[in-house]
Amino acid sequence: MYQVYIRSFMDSDGDGVGDMVGIRQRLPYLADLGVDAVWITPFYRSPMADHGYDVADYREVDPLFGGLDDFDRMLEEAHRLGLRVIVDIVPNHTSSEHDWFQEAISDPGSMMRDRFIFRDGRPGGQPPNNWTSVFGGPAWTREPNGSQYYLHLFAPEQPDLNWRNPVVNEEFASILRFWLDRGVDGFRIDVAHGLFKDAELRDNPVRDGLTVVAGTQYHSLEEKHSWDQPEVLEVYRDWRRHLDEYPGERMMVGEVFLFDQRRVARYVGPERLHQAFNFAFAGSRFRADHLQYNVVEGLRLMGEAGAPPTWVLSNHDLTRHATRFGGGARGRARGRAVTLMVMALPGSPYIYQGEEIGAEQVDVPPERRQDPIFARSEGAVVGRDGCRTPMPWSPEAPGFGFTTGKPWLPFAPDAATRNISRQLADPASQLNWYRRVLRLRRETFAGAQGELAWLDGDRHLIAFRRRAPGGEVLCALNTSRQARRMTVRETRVLVSSKPGVEAAGGTLTLPPETCAWLS
Ligand code: GLC
Repeated sequence: MYQVYIRSFMDSDGDGVGDMVGIRQRLPYLADLGVDAVWITPFYRSPMADHGYDVADYREVDPLFGGLDDFDRMLEEAHRLGLRVIVDIVPNHTSSEHDWFQEAISDPGSMMRDRFIFRDGRPGGQPPNNWTSVFGGPAWTREPNGSQYYLHLFAPEQPDLNWRNPVVNEEFASILRFWLDRGVDGFRIDVAHGLFKDAELRDNPVRDGLTVVAGTQYHSLEEKHSWDQPEVLEVYRDWRRHLDEYPGERMMVGEVFLFDQRRVARYVGPERLHQAFNFAFAGSRFRADHLQYNVVEGLRLMGEAGAPPTWVLSNHDLTRHATRFGGGARGRARGRAVTLMVMALPGSPYIYQGEEIGAEQVDVPPERRQDPIFARSEGAVVGRDGCRTPMPWSPEAPGFGFTTGKPWLPFAPDAATRNISRQLADPASQLNWYRRVLRLRRETFAGAQGELAWLDGDRHLIAFRRRAPGGEVLCALNTSRQARRMTVRETRVLVSSKPGVEAAGGTLTLPPETCAWLS
């Protein structure tokens, strides 16, 4: 699965923001890269307080991105190229400009108020409870012309919906059908563990050992009552039934942003979501023991739940993994090593746009920052802009093939050298390596089951064999700074994350921080 962050993928009309026609223009690139499917981040009508994750109309394309006919043409072209397309659904909250919320705040007697979470404050001008927003500050804002507060787990422009009101569920069922009828292959569910809140909206417990991050109190509370309530699982049971009524294969992947994979596993399975992102894996350090623990747990728990595991390293909310793994050539080489390992695992690897060329986190200067987190935490955090900078398609400044106008975020400083067209032309580039690996993965594991046999490893070495239709494949990852040897019966190196891998006389030699597949 390839994640397209629409604002930064391809701008076809020169306004500096990516759009639907831009995606369509670049679909051949994605088909050639060798991915099966594309997830497109929200493109619905939105005031863009959270860059599209604040939806004002779930059935319209924002004019910034085009129109519904542009979406239809993009989808048709994707299908023609053999690519599936999933769209992002944001059910936890709407935009404050959504008709429902507008009506709710303009008329105190409106039935729309019960579609959101309005409450009286506590005595002394205190909000109804102690919950804090993920973006910093309290999760409650006083309504502009009334006396109550409304709940927003994110920005104040993103009021949380009241999923205890059945009209909300009916509306989302209809929204799903709207996009399924247009032919989408499925959905990425935003904040999938949100939706339901504690019925009594009790205070969240204060954690032992406060971690006050960047001037917010967010991490000082345990989110016991604000999300991951059991009622939400029933919603996905319903949604699964709706999807299963459609012909062909349709899928849902949940952004269940919980680090405990045991809790995440409750969301997936034959009668729930098809997949959920594995954020524990995304949080692994470049250490064999961390990685292997998260892989083994992911395989075990998803296996028990009856759902394919997912392998995520980067997305539009996380620091890019080349940077997390140390940055520069070394961070990229480590990123390739982990990528090669996940490509040998059963389940779905998710690729975030730009990682295939080794994009790093960009240091966006304060005056160009866009992320609402930045404003809400009084500049104390840098926010998520650094992983959202535009795709450099070609070496030509200033627009690098992305735009003819001024890009909404600056390009990475190395865009003139690190870009798609340069790397396509260079057989030794990271991009061509991704293309080779994706092709090899498909050829090797198409039709393969999930059986893995783990070989003895240690805190620096992960090794397993995976059975595939054409024979077994050995995958070995050395995370140490020294070369490592292991005894193997394989003799042929199929692919490696770095040069210098040798398999001779029954001994495999892996250079430092390197992964290889052998047969
Ligand atoms: C999810 C999205 C993030 C967004 C938030 C609120 O975490 O991935 O980008 O800000 O939800 O919708």
